Amino acid sequence: MAAVRKIIIDTDPGQDDAVAILLALASPEFDILGITAVAGNVPLTLTSKNALKICELAGKRDTRVFAGASRPLMRTLVTAEEVHGKTGLDGPDLPEPTMKLEAQHAVDFIVDTLMGEEPDTVTLCPLGPLTNVALALIREPRIAPRIKEIVLMGGGFFEGGNVTPAAEFNIFVDPHAADVVLRAGIPVVMMPLDVTHKALTTARRVERFRSMGTAVGTATAELLDFFERFDEQKYGTDGGPLHDPCVIAYLIRPELFSGRQCNVSVETMSELTMGMTVIDWWGVSDRPKNALVMRDIDHEGFFDLLSERLARL
Ligand code: BDR
Ligand code: CA
Repeated sequence: MAAVRKIIIDTDPGQDDAVAILLALASPEFDILGITAVAGNVPLTLTSKNALKICELAGKRDTRVFAGASRPLMRTLVTAEEVHGKTGLDGPDLPEPTMKLEAQHAVDFIVDTLMGEEPDTVTLCPLGPLTNVALALIREPRIAPRIKEIVLMGGGFFEGGNVTPAAEFNIFVDPHAADVVLRAGIPVVMMPLDVTHKALTTARRVERFRSMGTAVGTATAELLDFFERFDEQKYGTDGGPLHDPCVIAYLIRPELFSGRQCNVSVETMSELTMGMTVIDWWGVSDRPKNALVMRDIDHEGFFDLLSERLARL
């Protein structure tokens, strides 16, 4: 097996974030240095608590969880309770966590970790708005060349947006942070809606989780039962898009995904298209290629991986 990869998961759980965290916790490919919570799907107090709940569900109580930014850099926080429910993790009845958050701020943890670990060994996995990552880059620009890679869920191009016609939720919530990250000269892999809208939680796939007969399998099915109802209505599909686990799956099995190197620029000025990821797929500008933008996924392989791994917890 390849060397274990050191990762920091930056997240706003969120049912799909929760499944991504479970996938990472179940996978021996990772040394999870920490989970950093950010405001997004629901406010920070809930996203940080939800991250603890998921670690406890997985029986991984030694995972370190840090709370980060409570609002975007410039804009008012927009949340998504209509998708994720009031708690952000509506669905299963998960107990209040007994694990505690670390005292250190998430942004300080990201900076200290990147400055302390060998350069080029730590991968960041942002699954929510990019506020914590941007703040870390602003606080300590020397971390930029030390980051191995940023693999993030965000954006959309051929699929358009999911929160406005132009913008995907994570980028829309903090477009200025996304702009900072995409201009930092760090290798970025981007999982946009173009990929995640093909990763549908069909009834058959959810039943596979439920029939595991484990606490994690049952909770995952219940999380997805709740999560998919909004998108099924919106898109008229069997199941909803399972966005965030695509990031973790890519790090385990990159061959499940395909895409190309492009320039990605974020709209930060226009109210109409705020947070749009303008992706130069056809290379018609001379802007530098700053991200590997994914467009396709082997969705059967993705759900096989997910089921196989979650069954280990
Ligand atoms: C993204 O927004 C959130 O609602 C999900 O957790 C995912 O990260 C999809 O647009
Ligand atoms: Ca998320």
